[in-house]
Amino acid sequence: KLIHVILSGGVGSRLWPVSRKSMPKQYIPMFGDKSLFQLTAERSMLSVDSTLVVGNKDNYLLSQADMMRAGVTDFTEIVEAAPRNTAAAIAFAAFAVQPDDILLVTPSDHIITDERAYADAIAEAVTLAEQDYLVTFGITPAKPETGYGYIEYSGNTVLSFREKPNEQTAQMFIDSGNFLWNSGMFCFRAGVYLEELNRYEPDILQTALTCYENQTEGLLPENETMQIPSKSIDYAVMERSEKIKVVQANFGWSDLGSFESIWEHWEGQGEIHRFKDNNCVVGSDKHVEFLGVSNIVLVETNDAILVLAKSSSQDVKKIYERLEREK
Ligand code: GDD
Ligand code: MG
Repeated sequence: KLIHVILSGGVGSRLWPVSRKSMPKQYIPMFGDKSLFQLTAERSMLSVDSTLVVGNKDNYLLSQADMMRAGVTDFTEIVEAAPRNTAAAIAFAAFAVQPDDILLVTPSDHIITDERAYADAIAEAVTLAEQDYLVTFGITPAKPETGYGYIEYSGNTVLSFREKPNEQTAQMFIDSGNFLWNSGMFCFRAGVYLEELNRYEPDILQTALTCYENQTEGLLPENETMQIPSKSIDYAVMERSEKIKVVQANFGWSDLGSFESIWEHWEGQGEIHRFKDNNCVVGSDKHVEFLGVSNIVLVETNDAILVLAKSSSQDVKKIYERLEREK
């Protein structure tokens, strides 16, 4: 069986104050009246047998409503008490199915165009996953983005995987011509993922399993959750595993992770203006002017204002984390 796992438990902290714990970015209607999560769910009906959402208890109703809107009826949801990052979230999905089942894991914060090419890439990935590989989807890099993973490749062979390099390293990767961006989508057998997780991060596997076994009807318990080391699949498994393959994506792909990327695609609420002469961006319904500054992002919501040097886009999550600590 091919199961689409939608990861939707992130808070979108790099998009604070637009993205909030109560309304993470993937649920914000950015495309007319559709959210990124709904668009992800709609893609789910293309070529999979069933859908499994791994989400957060704070956003349970949002995810259920969007699944309905997308018209997906055959799905289950695993509900996390707190986000412990993607290594654990994907482990929960793997526990919920048979070891031989193939998981197509996707984030819920991407835009994908050309669904035909998307379906072709999935078919190619499934073939490799059936041979017990962990399959990534590689995107031709456009700039030395520091928020992504980089895949060093030759054909579909992965020579190395490097998560979130600094800008200098990212530039070096791009110059070499041998690297692709990791799209953040993965395809593998549930059992193969768990074996690799156990090999490199047995602690995550064990604590996540204990947590999963103590669920009540899909809702995971808070105490056990807090015991799980918070690490992404990229650092936990992809940087280390020797079973990785890559399928080059010919579909259009954008990650709406940071303010740098988001303004290029946002079609929703609020007033977005770009100032071409100084490369500044404003997201506010007030009249705003910039003078003597460049590469600034200004975002206003009804209770917060963020003024950001574009080059610090990846660091907005630090503000979010500090506010959470100070709560
Ligand atoms: N259920 C659950 N629980 N989902 C989570 C959690 C969690 O604790 N943490 C994150 N997610 C979800 C997010 O909602 C998102 O849909 C997806 O997992 C990926 O998490 P991000 O936090 O957005 O990861 P990233 O953007 O920093 O990096 C990943 O994606 C990049 C491309 O967009 C990596 O895979 C990179 O290598 C990749 O380049
Ligand atoms: Mg992301």
